[in-house]
Amino acid sequence: MKNLSTYALRSISYFTLLVLGACTSASKIRQLTYPPDFRYYEQKEVYSTMWDFAKTISRLDQVLQSNEAEPAMFKQVTSHLEQLQRLATQLKSDPQASNHPMLSRNLPLLINDIEHAKNASQSSPRNYIPANRISASCRYCHIK
Ligand code: HEC
Repeated sequence: MKNLSTYALRSISYFTLLVLGACTSASKIRQLTYPPDFRYYEQKEVYSTMWDFAKTISRLDQVLQSNEAEPAMFKQVTSHLEQLQRLATQLKSDPQASNHPMLSRNLPLLINDIEHAKNASQSSPRNYIPANRISASCRYCHIK
């Protein structure tokens, strides 16, 4: 009888460990329940990219409003646009295979606008107007 309960206790604690282990990697398990090409966005990933977007846009606006001379102006504008491009591209995914279809569907619109702003800034004479308006592209997902 003693042996039996010791055995039962041991298996219970083993089971507890398994459950605890599973909880700490809950996000991994959630990801595993989707096909391999499925993009599972964690909320904190989206939020952290969004805050980086906001930071970068504000730096871009600051440069554009400064009296920075060329070619320093161009260099900084390009660097901020490329940072936005990197952030947006990292977040990109197939809308058919994501837990956030709205995000996946609208992100390419922002990416196109960034590309357009980059091309315009490279033109001669330089055209920074699309770069100056890039924050309007946040409205693809942020109404108001
Ligand atoms: C493709 C869609 C999309 C675009 C474009 C987009 N966002 Fe977001 N943004 C989201 C989503 C999704 C959230 C998460 C909140 C939610 O689910 O409503 C969010 C949230 C945020 C937040 C709040 C984060 C928090 O901690 O509450 C900020 C700030 C933000 N976005 C800034 C921006 C800026 C700046 C831009 C323009 C460069 C931008 N977003 C463009 C989809 C987008």
